Amino acid sequence: MSATPHPERLRAFIGAFAELLDAAPRDGDRQHRGSQMLGQLVSHDDWLPDAYAQPHPEHYQQYLLHVDSRQRFSLVSFVWGPGQRTPIHDHRVWGLIGMLRGSEYSQGYQWDSDGQLREDGPALLLRPGQVEALTPNHNDIHQVRNAHDDQVSISIHVYGANIGAVRRAVYSPEGVEKSFISGYSNRTLPNIWDLSKEHPAP
Ligand code: FE2
Repeated sequence: MSATPHPERLRAFIGAFAELLDAAPRDGDRQHRGSQMLGQLVSHDDWLPDAYAQPHPEHYQQYLLHVDSRQRFSLVSFVWGPGQRTPIHDHRVWGLIGMLRGSEYSQGYQWDSDGQLREDGPALLLRPGQVEALTPNHNDIHQVRNAHDDQVSISIHVYGANIGAVRRAVYSPEGVEKSFISGYSNRTLPNIWDLSKEHPAP
């Protein structure tokens, strides 16, 4: 893995996000302030270690970058190979999605009165520096895909739980629900805590 020029950006985000939750903000305030903070993080593409930016040839990758010590939030890099997409799925906790590299489409779905899933308006295109917010029972069901057929895209997600351990659901286009727990693609986490690398002794 090559050296990451600015690991302090990720470290600062994690600390600031924990402080935000310590302040017990109301949902709207957390979403607003959290979106601003994530937007700042993804407006610089110089901090994600290469090991957590690697696509898989067959399916998207979800690399855990950090879980809060009380599992109040988790941070994940989603890496989309060319043309890759998720199934239609939900989250069941709040979420923030910030675009770091490339771009992606998020297509929302809502239940109609016949119990069918229907597309909820046009897909949202996220570009680097932009953030989408997800709220349970509001806009919690969507499908995400790489907007590019010829390049990798990467988005950084924050969720209100250890998302890889949350039992949630994927849906067929007809709306048939199937329970799943996503887990993560990686076994080790980025080491952003070795300050001697950033401030070596003279
Ligand atoms: Fe999602």
